[in-house]
Amino acid sequence: MTDSKRKILVTSALPYANGPIHLGHLVEYIQTDIWVRFQKQRGHQCTYVCADDAHGTPIMLKANQMGLSPEELIAKVSSEHQRDFAGFMVGFDNYYSTHSEENREFATLIYQRLHDAGHIARRTITQAFDPEKKMFLPDRFIKGECPKCGAADQYGDSCEACGATYQPTELKNAYSAISGATPIEKDSEHFFFKLGDFEDFLKSWVSEHVQTQMIHKLNEWFESGLQQWDISRDAPYWGFEIPGAEGKYFYVWLDAPIGYMASFKNWCDRNGVDFDEYWKPGTDAELYHFIGKDIAYFHTLFWPAMLQGAGFRTPTGVFCHGFLTVNGQKMSKSRGTFIMAETYLKHLRPEYLRYYFAAKLGSGVDDIDLSLEDFRFRVNSDLVNKVVNIASRCAGFIQKKFDGELDSELTNAALYNEAVAAGRSIADAYEKREYGRAMREIMHLADKANQYIDNAEPWVLAKQEGRESEVQACCTLGINLFRVIISYLAPILPKVAEDAAQFLNIDGFAWDAIEKPLLGHKINKFKPLMQRVEPEAIEKVIEDSRQNLEAAQKVAPKKQAEKPAKEPIADTIEFGDFAKVDLRVARIAKAEHVEGADKLLRLTLDLGDETRNVFAGIKSAYKPEDLEGKLTVMVANLAPRKMKFGMSEGMVLAAGPGGKDLWILEPHEGAQPGMRIM
Ligand code: 2FM
Ligand code: ZN
Repeated sequence: MTDSKRKILVTSALPYANGPIHLGHLVEYIQTDIWVRFQKQRGHQCTYVCADDAHGTPIMLKANQMGLSPEELIAKVSSEHQRDFAGFMVGFDNYYSTHSEENREFATLIYQRLHDAGHIARRTITQAFDPEKKMFLPDRFIKGECPKCGAADQYGDSCEACGATYQPTELKNAYSAISGATPIEKDSEHFFFKLGDFEDFLKSWVSEHVQTQMIHKLNEWFESGLQQWDISRDAPYWGFEIPGAEGKYFYVWLDAPIGYMASFKNWCDRNGVDFDEYWKPGTDAELYHFIGKDIAYFHTLFWPAMLQGAGFRTPTGVFCHGFLTVNGQKMSKSRGTFIMAETYLKHLRPEYLRYYFAAKLGSGVDDIDLSLEDFRFRVNSDLVNKVVNIASRCAGFIQKKFDGELDSELTNAALYNEAVAAGRSIADAYEKREYGRAMREIMHLADKANQYIDNAEPWVLAKQEGRESEVQACCTLGINLFRVIISYLAPILPKVAEDAAQFLNIDGFAWDAIEKPLLGHKINKFKPLMQRVEPEAIEKVIEDSRQNLEAAQKVAPKKQAEKPAKEPIADTIEFGDFAKVDLRVARIAKAEHVEGADKLLRLTLDLGDETRNVFAGIKSAYKPEDLEGKLTVMVANLAPRKMKFGMSEGMVLAAGPGGKDLWILEPHEGAQPGMRIM
């Protein structure tokens, strides 16, 4: 190894404690874990910490919805997160929570230091307030009609129908997504972090510690001016109260990155490590944050500025990555490609995905695609057919004919040395997070090893008299090449590496250990290290993911408080999907106003042999009396939804952009209530 032992602290972004880990998250945790395992394998003192991001309004409301205290919710989610990360072999040294005493202390300390140095401003701002719930509403909890296209039920920041972005105050007929009440405007004093004080520092810091692809984005932010950052929220809020400011809390994003320090401190205290060694200004310890490009602003501006202002060291590097698409599209619940970690693990081995992501990952911020067909092909052809095959082709001969003993010298030392020498470039690729390049170079070695065995034909030699020693020689080289390759793959495939170490009868894979080949050494019986990925397993993952969606819809027919993932409308659906929808002709027997509802009418729909109560958002377009007696079309098998005003047992179909321009579908006279629409 060329560089001496480094002290490295590594983090991945802290996942919110209100939802499950899915494959989109895992890109980052797998990317980070590979890097950490690589550093440890190289002999460095590398520590990997993470935590749940446990504060904020969405968590408070979700706990409320579930009838839990926030503490109960975050405890439950934390254990699920840790189970899933362990399932994918993400080996944190510490997994903690931002709702911890250490974090409270650091958040307070950093705030206090920033305050004392004059970097905190206070001023009164006006915000939307829910008069029923008596709380200020974050943008995503205000809904209403899009100011541009009029689409109903849009969130306070952007329209999912036309893509427009706007201020929540621009929404028409705005309502609180929590209570349904019309928001009022209310003043309150907020605390701001004066980011602009750090402009010069940030400009120079960014140029050295952030990927070049991101610097462009950062320059745009610098050009548009560094705004003061609102770091306080009013009660009721789930977080840490700001010392000396009753009823004011730190905004979740203030204490989230501080959670990196808190998790590390908690680990230091339990392991006798000096925290300050890593966090004092000018330390030689390295600090790296792996994050998604969407949260770069927080990590490349606010965070280094906070650290600088509070007298701590700043990060050595912030490594942004792109998003995950599945089969070329955004993950989609209806397509079954919104895959939870837990669902994947029921049917597939974690290392398949670790390898596939590694093969696709570079050091940049480009999105990566999980093409499920390519995934199966790549894993089978690279790992099963190429890598594992090297051992399975050689092990039997060594075991049967030589009692497990490898030859005492290498016949083709040049080939072995070439494989060892490739380690320099492979290490360089890992270090720079160019995992795709590392995988290509490793597979190139695997191809060479297989070619060598193909040419040597031990299975032919084994049948010829007097050529025993050649069999041993060629299989000894094969097994040694296998060891080198597994050593290179160990950061990606921890379990395969562990099983291979058992087979090779070695302690593990310290990076430099391969410099000395295994000669005159006894190996153990070979057991298959990895099975092929079968198409059925992938189909089951997709099927289960679809069912997860259905189950979620049954439990929570209308999730008002949570912004759904934006999904493109599927280009096509299978006939079977269409056939599931039971469309019926219904007669509107009764139509009534609903007290307290701005948009809804209560319809009593006659289906011939039964009647249904349905709330329809068509008040803007119809007077109740004009609807009674009309025939219309309804979805008759929609799971009943509990709404604020009662149960809605189906849905009527309407066309038009919204507002006054909305028309229910009216079948021809002659159609009878209850008739199925085919
Ligand atoms: O975007 C998110 O999911 C945040 N929970 C990430 C926080 S990272 C760090 F700053 F805590
Ligand atoms: Zn719109």
